[in-house]
Amino acid sequence: MAQESTREWLPLMVQRRAAVARDIIEFTLVRANAGELPLFESGAHVLVHTPAGSTRKYSLINPPNERRHYVIAVRRDANGRGGSVSMADGLASGAVIETSVPENAFPLERSARRYLFIAGGIGITPILGMIRHLQMRTAEGENPPPFQLIYLTRSGADTAYLEELASQSMGEHVSLHHDHGNPVEAFDLWPVLERPAAGTHIYCCGPRGLMDAVRDMTGHWPATGIHFESFGVGDAAMFEANRPFAIHLARSGKTIEVDADQTALEALQASGCRVMSSCEAGSCGTCRTTYLSGDVEHRDLVLGEGEKADQIMVCVSRARGGVLELDL
Ligand code: FES
Repeated sequence: MAQESTREWLPLMVQRRAAVARDIIEFTLVRANAGELPLFESGAHVLVHTPAGSTRKYSLINPPNERRHYVIAVRRDANGRGGSVSMADGLASGAVIETSVPENAFPLERSARRYLFIAGGIGITPILGMIRHLQMRTAEGENPPPFQLIYLTRSGADTAYLEELASQSMGEHVSLHHDHGNPVEAFDLWPVLERPAAGTHIYCCGPRGLMDAVRDMTGHWPATGIHFESFGVGDAAMFEANRPFAIHLARSGKTIEVDADQTALEALQASGCRVMSSCEAGSCGTCRTTYLSGDVEHRDLVLGEGEKADQIMVCVSRARGGVLELDL
């Protein structure tokens, strides 16, 4: 778990940048002295201070035994808020950026008997890191659980790491599917998810619609075996425009203003209120907070319908205006 105030930042240099699919750029980041970097487990991510000044979350793609670099991939989102475009267009080899030390809200469950990975688009990044880790363990003589990957993209040109994932060594472990932007051609996950398999852990990362679909189709699976990773508030078009609102802290009586370009978590932390956070993307559940009143727009991937009446993930969800009263 980490909070902005306690997070450690590393100045890292772009050693290499390379296109790995249309509008997806891979960056290899190293220390200026080529020294070792803090350890991480597969599924981990770093936060990056982008050239545009925003902070973005990127999964580490290299296996954890590679200690002298972090590899991330950035999808250039021309309709986003500028962070990814500034990375893709403004970060040349030799540039220095700040990243956090790795954090992990999406760790691989070692006791699993089998892994089912479901990735959509750029959501392949944490999952590729996991697959490479499993391959590394196999190469070292271990016998890790087997995996199956379902990787859903628009087309071959949009498929990051296509050559690696379509290679013979991946064999029957990988299913690639392109929908060509046509909902009629979407992959039907139900035959895969219909029957829960004992010991199988599902890891899903991708667009909000994919994660919602997997969540809807796995309600009958053990909840502890379903894992999601998201990279932010998701598809902003799905939500109402941010409006400022106020937070009233019921226990202390304090009132905090939340600007339209600020999250509730940021406003709480800036006012000195201690709320734990980790993913800051609505997927890990760390910042779960009880609310007593308010018109809440839920934007997380954690809460079930029954919990939304009095629980809120303050890292992504917010009030539509007015006052949100928290049990803090
Ligand atoms: Fe992970 Fe809010 S910090 S859900």
